[in-house]
Amino acid sequence: MSILRVENLTKTYQSGGRELTVLHGVNFSLEPGDTFSIVGPSGSGKTTLLGLCAGLDHASSGSVYLNDIQLDKLSEDERAAVRNQYVGFIFQNFQLLPTLTALENVMIPLELRGEKGAQKTAQSLLERVGLGSRGHHYPTQLSGGEQQRVSLARAFANRPKLLFADEPTGNLDTDTSATVIDLLFELNREAGTTLVLVTHDLDLAAKTQRVIRIKGGTVVSDTQVATSI
Ligand SMILES: Nc1ncnc2c1ncn2[C@@H]1O[C@H](COP(=O)(O)OP(=O)(O)OP(=O)(O)O)[C@@H](O)[C@H]1O
Ligand SMILES: [Mg+2]
Repeated sequence: MSILRVENLTKTYQSGGRELTVLHGVNFSLEPGDTFSIVGPSGSGKTTLLGLCAGLDHASSGSVYLNDIQLDKLSEDERAAVRNQYVGFIFQNFQLLPTLTALENVMIPLELRGEKGAQKTAQSLLERVGLGSRGHHYPTQLSGGEQQRVSLARAFANRPKLLFADEPTGNLDTDTSATVIDLLFELNREAGTTLVLVTHDLDLAAKTQRVIRIKGGTVVSDTQVATSI
């Protein structure tokens, strides 16, 4: 059974009275535990595709099946429930809650699940991303790269079946980027999390088992990578 299946997906935005089609019939499917990256030029539709796969937005036509659940058949509330159950998302612009500290942001998914010891788990996740001493800082008091790492710790707190990460290393220096990449693949190995990455970093893409390249909203290549970590 595939964990994610995308069939003939299209997305058209209406803006300023004009239509802009940014995805033209995208198809692929992923098995549990796969690592997958989506590459392509700026504006080619990568973030749009990721958002549709994660059930954050509606397709114009076509379907997304997440764990065999057809997302377009669900109500808004049902989609949110499926997201909470299966999906972690690291956004290109982080989307941390500004009124909560770093520690509290990481605690949210744990508290939503009613887990005991949420604070301790969140603290240890912050330590793993190198921010153990910054838990009391608010997002505006953190650099872009630090916010990205908090966002990663929060996504990990979910122990998701599927983790979508939009440019997870886009704002990081080489060392921090290597730590984040190690963490992503560790989660894949330890918890069997399926990783779907959007990246401009071809070295990172080469570490995943499969790479699709999109251009102007169309898949132009779909390659199995020989060596993956
Ligand atoms: N809400 C929206 N309304 C109208 N157009 C949009 C909207 N969101 C995205 N677009 C357009 O859709 C196209 C694809 O955007 P998308 O964010 O998916 O690109 P991307 O491949 O992620 O680019 P980047 O590498 O720069 O992040 C762009 O031309 C963008 O301007
Ligand atoms: Mg993008």
